[in-house]
Amino acid sequence: TEPLRLGIAGLGTVGIGVVKIIRRHAALLEARTGRPVMISAVSARDAGKDRGVSLTDYAWETDPVALAVRDDVDVFVELMGGHEGAAKAATEAALSAGKDVVTANKALLAIHGQPLAEQAERAGRVIRFEAAVAGGIPVIKSLTEGLAGNEITRVMGVMNGTCNFILTQMQATGQGYNALFEECGRLGYLEADPNLDVGGIDAGHKLALLASIAFGTRPAFEDVQLEGIQRIQLADINAAADMGYRIKLLGVAQRTARGLEQRMSPCLVPANSPLGQLEGGTNMVVIEGDSIEQVVLRGPGAGEGPTASAVMGDVLDLARGLRIATFGQPAATLQEVPAAQTGLP
Ligand code: NDP
Ligand code: HSE
Repeated sequence: TEPLRLGIAGLGTVGIGVVKIIRRHAALLEARTGRPVMISAVSARDAGKDRGVSLTDYAWETDPVALAVRDDVDVFVELMGGHEGAAKAATEAALSAGKDVVTANKALLAIHGQPLAEQAERAGRVIRFEAAVAGGIPVIKSLTEGLAGNEITRVMGVMNGTCNFILTQMQATGQGYNALFEECGRLGYLEADPNLDVGGIDAGHKLALLASIAFGTRPAFEDVQLEGIQRIQLADINAAADMGYRIKLLGVAQRTARGLEQRMSPCLVPANSPLGQLEGGTNMVVIEGDSIEQVVLRGPGAGEGPTASAVMGDVLDLARGLRIATFGQPAATLQEVPAAQTGLP
């Protein structure tokens, strides 16, 4: 059988996690898909860096665009990050060269997802991005496949591991912001620019992607009303706790009579509720639909293993020939829904 050949651009937390799974589970992956899943080539900025895993079996490309268009690459796996520059250029190049794309890059897709999806559609290719939302929780697959028979009425949840870790650990340990920030770095949770995490922007990217899939609209990150956690003090967390509440960076997307409402902001939730009990880097996504009423998904939202697991779920679908369209439906069927305001800053 023909192997599925990957080109992996980005060998940081997530990229190395993917390499490790492919090396550790080669036989298992082949048994599950009926074909070997192999890495042809890899790319990162620093060719000399010790990444704790042998890369000598794979060709090295300094330029991710060159990697994306190689003849021995069937699927381009983009794990560099950033919504401009190399990630965007290499993704476009991969689609032009007839490759499918798997990415964890929520910033790229929340901002450029629509033109990229349309490029993929024209090329007869797909962009898969399970890892971009809620780390190891298979939330996109749930929406596009298992829950596809529902009219979705609301999606909400905690979607940034860094913020949840900081908010819960501040209360549990009394540690300050800076020490917890460093711990998030050690755990592999932080974005290259951590302002995206604490500013609520990363979680806003994720909400925009979920909303677009749930409601059949274009991703509209610019319409997400955002407030981060930078102004939350330990005193606020303790005052909330005294009243029986926790502070969570909570996202909500729902269709209202006024249009599509998307907001991501610190909220009080009851301490004894499932959301209130979320600890550390755990995420929770709540999906409501006309037939299911409510489905709650909970799991690790960031870090090497969980995120690489989600990337591999997409890779294995492609190995099996399962090529569900990007954003769950063709571009021509997407709806134009005005943005509803809720009064957040
Ligand atoms: P890292 O910063 O750990 O790794 C980024 C990798 O990309 C590094 O290997 C870096 O090379 C490489 N890289 C960056 N720019 C270029 C470039 N111009 N050319 C070639 N290589 C480049 O990031 P993460 O692994 O944490 O994140 C990767 C992606 O996954 C991001 O989109 C992030 O948002 C997303 N993500 C991350 C999660 C997490 O928990 N970490 C969870 C979900 C999604 P070098 O090592 O040489 O510097
Ligand atoms: N920086 C992100 C977080 C990584 O902390 O949730 C997972 O998307």
